[in-house]
Amino acid sequence: MSRKEPDRPADGTGDELPSESAGPPVAASEMVAAGPFSQSDRAAVYRAIETRRDVRGEFLDRPVGDAVIARLLEAAHHAPSVGLMQPWNFIVIRDLALRRRIRDVVARRNQEAAGMFSDERAAAYQRLKLEGIVEAPVNICVTCDRTRGGKVVLGRTHQRDTDLLSAACAVQNLFLAARAEGIGAGWVSIFEPEDLRPILKLPEGVVPVAYLCLGHVEELFGRPELEARRWSKRLALQDLVFAEGWDRPWPFPPGGDGED
Ligand SMILES: Cc1cc2nc3c(=O)[nH]c(=O)nc-3n(C[C@H](O)[C@H](O)[C@H](O)COP(=O)(O)O)c2cc1C
Repeated sequence: MSRKEPDRPADGTGDELPSESAGPPVAASEMVAAGPFSQSDRAAVYRAIETRRDVRGEFLDRPVGDAVIARLLEAAHHAPSVGLMQPWNFIVIRDLALRRRIRDVVARRNQEAAGMFSDERAAAYQRLKLEGIVEAPVNICVTCDRTRGGKVVLGRTHQRDTDLLSAACAVQNLFLAARAEGIGAGWVSIFEPEDLRPILKLPEGVVPVAYLCLGHVEELFGRPELEARRWSKRLALQDLVFAEGWDRPWPFPPGGDGED
């Protein structure tokens, strides 16, 4: 589709996009090409998505430098966020004593968690390794500042939790970048958010969204570890997609590598 030429230049340069429907004028130079990636770039993106794993037990005893951490944080910071709220902060934690304190909290909460399952399930649960806080050389706590951007944030007016969802998008970006870097990442959520407040000195209004363990890895599970250990299974995508409403399955095309 061709772009409409501006008929009313906003500042006399003639280099603006039409402004009638989308707010103040924007220079045409703001826009960049949006064609598909090359075949190999596309394959790399899908490979990162498909081979990303949640890591708990495969961390190598090898330091992760600040340069790679900075790249992962840059990727996280490029996530979408409601109203461009960017509600996240990142606490990089290397200190072993601090990580031990957090590991101890998680161990206590994990005992509570085990008690929530049926006897048979609880026994299987307790055999799972669900965090690598101390084994991973670096942890990152991703937080959400629920007050950022003030009381009324564009897009968050009716769904308050879109700030948390935005922070989760940042976490996923970080995970995918980590996969590309050969850094394993594991998400730990077995704690009460308030458990971390005193330990990490979180101010009021700021909540932890994800506690991540990061480290070099040589091998990853080829499928979710919880599936490999027969705790759960990946659902069939076909069973999850509807057409036009909840009552009709979407007819998946055969194959899936069509051109459009
Ligand atoms: C919000 C969230 C919280 C999670 N919390 C934990 C956790 O506390 N411990 C754990 O071992 N894995 C945790 N995971 C990882 C999931 O178990 C894992 O993503 C899932 O089993 C699929 O495996 P995969 O990520 O390797 O594909 C969490 C994942 C998400 C998205």
